[in-house]
Amino acid sequence: MCGIVGYIGHREAYPIILKGLKRLEYRGYDSAGIALFDGTDLKLSKTKGKVANLETKLESEITTHGSVGIGHTRWATHGVPNDVNSHPHYSNSGDLVIIHNGIIENYESLKKELIKRGYVFKSDTDTEVLVNLIEDVKKNEQIKLGKAVQIALNQVVGAYAIAVFDRNKPNEIVVARLGSPLAIGIGDDEFFIASDASPFIEYTKNAIYLEDEEMAIVRRDKGVKIRKIHDDSLVDPYVQELQLNLEQIEKGGYDHFMLKEIYEQPSAILDTFRGRLLTNEAIIKMAGVEDNMKKFLNADRIIIVACGTSWHAGLVAEYIFEDLARIPVEVEYASEFRYRNPIITEKDVVIAISQSGETADTLAAIKLAKSKGAFVFGVCNVVGSSIAREAHAGAYTHAGPEIGVASTKAFTTQITVLTLIALRLSRAKGTISSSDYRHHLIELELIPDKVKKALESDDYVKTIAEIYKDVHNFLYLGRGYNFPVALEGALKLKEISYIHAEGYPAAEMKHGPIALIDENMPIVVIATKKGHYEKVVSNIQEIKSRKGKIIGIVTEGDTQVKELADHVIEVPETIESLSPLLTTIPLQLLSYHIALMLGKNVDQPRNLAKAVTVE
Ligand code: F6R
Repeated sequence: MCGIVGYIGHREAYPIILKGLKRLEYRGYDSAGIALFDGTDLKLSKTKGKVANLETKLESEITTHGSVGIGHTRWATHGVPNDVNSHPHYSNSGDLVIIHNGIIENYESLKKELIKRGYVFKSDTDTEVLVNLIEDVKKNEQIKLGKAVQIALNQVVGAYAIAVFDRNKPNEIVVARLGSPLAIGIGDDEFFIASDASPFIEYTKNAIYLEDEEMAIVRRDKGVKIRKIHDDSLVDPYVQELQLNLEQIEKGGYDHFMLKEIYEQPSAILDTFRGRLLTNEAIIKMAGVEDNMKKFLNADRIIIVACGTSWHAGLVAEYIFEDLARIPVEVEYASEFRYRNPIITEKDVVIAISQSGETADTLAAIKLAKSKGAFVFGVCNVVGSSIAREAHAGAYTHAGPEIGVASTKAFTTQITVLTLIALRLSRAKGTISSSDYRHHLIELELIPDKVKKALESDDYVKTIAEIYKDVHNFLYLGRGYNFPVALEGALKLKEISYIHAEGYPAAEMKHGPIALIDENMPIVVIATKKGHYEKVVSNIQEIKSRKGKIIGIVTEGDTQVKELADHVIEVPETIESLSPLLTTIPLQLLSYHIALMLGKNVDQPRNLAKAVTVE
């Protein structure tokens, strides 16, 4: 995720773009840049770090005059966060400049072609490839910028929201969208371009939201002309009146970042496997795994180190790796591992999981493992973070910025990456049949839609939250793949509602926690069809006979648990190993609604921080 902003009109563009970038920093903040046209010259300044760094740099570097410009705040995907990889990017001639939010999946092959034709690249980004492709088309075909953008985009595979400016045509900006958002604010003889409406809400309430596969030429004098990128047909602009206030817009219309991030999971999971899961070819492509395949295949065991929610994702991965790839796995709290003189050898593969990539204990655990000769693989969300850099190799989750302190989309995207790795290794080891492997790929591809379906339980979950919001204790039970989900559900409730909650393997209940059960105790039981279903149903009966209140998370169409439970929340059917990606959704929603009803600060719960950089 990145944020893009543009302005063309009669005011100074710089303050509008700068303020807009600050509002879009929630979309990424590892580097930022602005290009301005002052009537004669195109001026560009960009830097690693937050928009505030750019502000300091810009004002000492360039004159900030001009009534047309574009700006970008980045969440790195291709290329580490540094000055050179920051946007905007120039084309080779210096005539064109581009900002981009998204991923160009076929950029390597396009780049090779362009290099053959004499183009040189300064950055590691896919975006610099795109701007040069546009330049190449424009030059070869002797056509206008809009047409060149259209032809170039027809050669591109991936996702994008882009804005392109040509210094020789200073009265227009060309924009396009596929898979990443893009809004155009319509003022009086002025136009605003942005990833959402927050950068221009105080200037105009009228906006056009481009649809996927649409592009627009935004002209200072002539307004906005929209066409379809693929078939060239003209589209009538639909101008909407914005009803939202500024804060709501930054949160995409949601009341909290946590809720927004819960709802982003279908697209976040899709982004995680985009370009990696090639179902038709039955291929999983992950460079970090391919390049180190020998290390994985020769490993005596995998040790997973992580903290909190990431540790729970590690527990799910333990089941997947052992079940599918038949590699022994140990899952360790990084904080314990680093201090207990663990036995680590050169034949161990250590997988470190961290959303922020900055967790001090996980970082220390990695350093310890490296010092003993183990191969360390990082699974991080934040590109260029300390853990990502410290690991020998890794795979990013590509979930986009997670702002809410309680991890939601980080958890499901971590499980997605780890599932891809386990599947790739099981194929390489021959521990999975080709039909089973294909079946897994097909089911994984269906998960984003099934998560969408699971989110439909939101209103019903809210009614359950209303009933139980005042209790002091909750119990969460699950078995197999869903035992870690029970732990995660309990953690979510604790951290944002401050209600005490415990997660347990369902069968462990009778070894102690059963003593807690009475008519006041709500117990969330994950009882999906494929995971030891009959055994979990027996556990539910044990709870029922002690008058506990049962909230069952069940597979669509379930009848058995429905008869026993006080409430059932349905999730779509999938294979057992992927069920955590669905069963976790209602648990996230339950904790969100309870915390909200109790008046807690959902996005910034007390005593917690998004990145725990102290031990
Ligand atoms: C829980 C939560 C924390 C983090 C933990 C590790 O919602 O957010 O438990 O999961 O602090 O953080 P990362 O994944 O950044 O290493």
